[in-house]
Amino acid sequence: MSDDLIAVKPAVAAGTHVDAARHAAMTAEAIADPNGFWRREAGRIAWMTTPTQIKDVDFTGDVHIRWYADGVLNASVSCLDRHLATRGDQVAIIWEGDDPASDAKITYRELHARVCRLANALRAQGVKKGDRVTIYLPMIVEAAVAMLACARVGAVHSIVFGGFSPDSLATRIQESESTILLTADEGRRGGRKVALKANADEALKSCPTITSVIVARNTGGAVEMQDGRDYWWSDVCDSQPAECMPEPMNAEDPLFILYTSGSTGKPKGVLHTTGGYMVWASYTHELVFDYRPGEVYWCTADVGWVTGHTYIVYGPLANGATTLMFEGVPNYPDVGRFWQVVDKHKVNIFYTAPTAIRSLMREGEAPVRKHSRASLRILGSVGEPINPEAWLWYYRVVGDERCPVVDTWWQTETGGILISPLPGAVAQKPGSATLPLPGVLPALVDGEGKLMEGAAEGNLVLLDAWPGMMRTVYGDHARFVQTYFSTFPGMYFTGDGARRDADGYYWITGRVDDVINVAGHRMGTAEIESALVAHTKVAEAAVVGMPHDIKGQGIYAYVTLKTGIEPTDALKKELIAWVRKEIGPIATPDAIQWAPGLPKTRSGKIMRRILRKIAANEVDGIGDTSTLADPTVVTDLVDNRVG
Ligand code: WTA
Repeated sequence: MSDDLIAVKPAVAAGTHVDAARHAAMTAEAIADPNGFWRREAGRIAWMTTPTQIKDVDFTGDVHIRWYADGVLNASVSCLDRHLATRGDQVAIIWEGDDPASDAKITYRELHARVCRLANALRAQGVKKGDRVTIYLPMIVEAAVAMLACARVGAVHSIVFGGFSPDSLATRIQESESTILLTADEGRRGGRKVALKANADEALKSCPTITSVIVARNTGGAVEMQDGRDYWWSDVCDSQPAECMPEPMNAEDPLFILYTSGSTGKPKGVLHTTGGYMVWASYTHELVFDYRPGEVYWCTADVGWVTGHTYIVYGPLANGATTLMFEGVPNYPDVGRFWQVVDKHKVNIFYTAPTAIRSLMREGEAPVRKHSRASLRILGSVGEPINPEAWLWYYRVVGDERCPVVDTWWQTETGGILISPLPGAVAQKPGSATLPLPGVLPALVDGEGKLMEGAAEGNLVLLDAWPGMMRTVYGDHARFVQTYFSTFPGMYFTGDGARRDADGYYWITGRVDDVINVAGHRMGTAEIESALVAHTKVAEAAVVGMPHDIKGQGIYAYVTLKTGIEPTDALKKELIAWVRKEIGPIATPDAIQWAPGLPKTRSGKIMRRILRKIAANEVDGIGDTSTLADPTVVTDLVDNRVG
């Protein structure tokens, strides 16, 4: 395997935060003395009361996870106030609009003032520590201001991705019992408008807990404003003072909830708390991207996903970085947009998703070569496994073989990166997330939960806690224990499979549960199935992932219609539109196959393994169907496979 190693270049190692020797020393220290190690790392953020208690974790029984339990802090102070004396006039956020002609630069001092004004406005609306605030905003500066203003007053933010439907927004507001919604008139993406306020109005018909809606004017498009409920952002903020007392928060007080798809039922509210999460955000952002003061750092994610939380807002701002926020898409106005923006703002560190890399790779090298990219130093990847071909294209074409590629494995639940090369310390292998960060203890277990040694392939678990991990499922601790700690008792189960090679490098193979990863977005197959069966003409549905060149996985749906309903192409279109409306465009099925019957065991359980094989066109691998109630349904499904 070591033939594939791409060694750390001396130019990269020079001046790095963590070289190979330091990496080894940190890894050893974090194991030998976790309390000492994490006590020191806590010093990277600002505390009102320095914690004396460090780690308090039990992965068994009822599971409790506490870090820095007697510490007091406010996340917004670490991101803003403490930078004012040293870098108040440094740019905190570079905003690049969907339209290449629009951009903005906001200094730390300006950001601080904007956050304080909104925080005061939230307090004036009656928001108190512990209240939930839902944020449904496009990629505009207000999104970061909203997060930090919530943190400032101790409100728990719950961001809903702007691409989600009114229904999805409504469920998340209801689940979190939010009292305030922060949104905008419209968003922009790839030259099109997204009707956020209109969606919100629709959602709010079933959200009685919301008492006020604060609306940012973004496109200036016409929206309806409901008297006594809806307020323009500027109207509530402009009159507020630019100073606001930060709410003292216990380290274990919640910072945010983020709803994410699981293998069953409705999305779960992943809850992150304040102290450990902030330490993790700062630690990983500095180590993995080798962030150096003065550099421009760009993560192309949306703040609606965890990557945007940790690596556009909290991590970079905690580290005093200049973070770039991009409203647009990689192919608008043309497929050179990323590299045009890199040159325009002299971006040093660039972090994106494999799906974007694969879609740009298809367009050839010319659109990349047209731009200099000389400022680039580090390239990152996140969201799904990156195939070696895409990795090498990223490395050779985008990075001119100068820039290390950090393939970062993590999850909404983990709060931040767990497995990744550190650019100045770890030799890379195309397609491998390589080694755990110091303080992270991954392992592989077989189906029975037995630890596997050496080179092996199995289920990826974490044997011990790290400060940034989720603490519970909001409002449902039993579900937290059940989902993550019951499959392999005493260990955190990731839901991912992985291979470890002879060098100890990890290669993530993808989900082993009923979650699929479409263009780096996590989708629960159960959610898409319930959307489909909610349609009056559908009797039953089963959804699986299928291989997709660009998106990694596509959505393949088997649909059984109610008796007497004609299976037509028009109905397929209708169902596709229906799912988009129910969940959002990210859940658009790529293929629908009419299924007169689904392969079920005699006890009625759908054999998804078979459905996955048919969707992937691997019909030779279907294997034994004798346990099925009716084996002939398989023949029918194979014969009528779509695509
Ligand atoms: C997948 C996104 C391989 C994985 C940060 C995980 C990856 C899920 C990688 C979490 C990677 C994320 N290599 N697979 N570098 N990064 N994944 O919660 O299956 O949206 O469980 O968090 O994405 O998705 P989530």
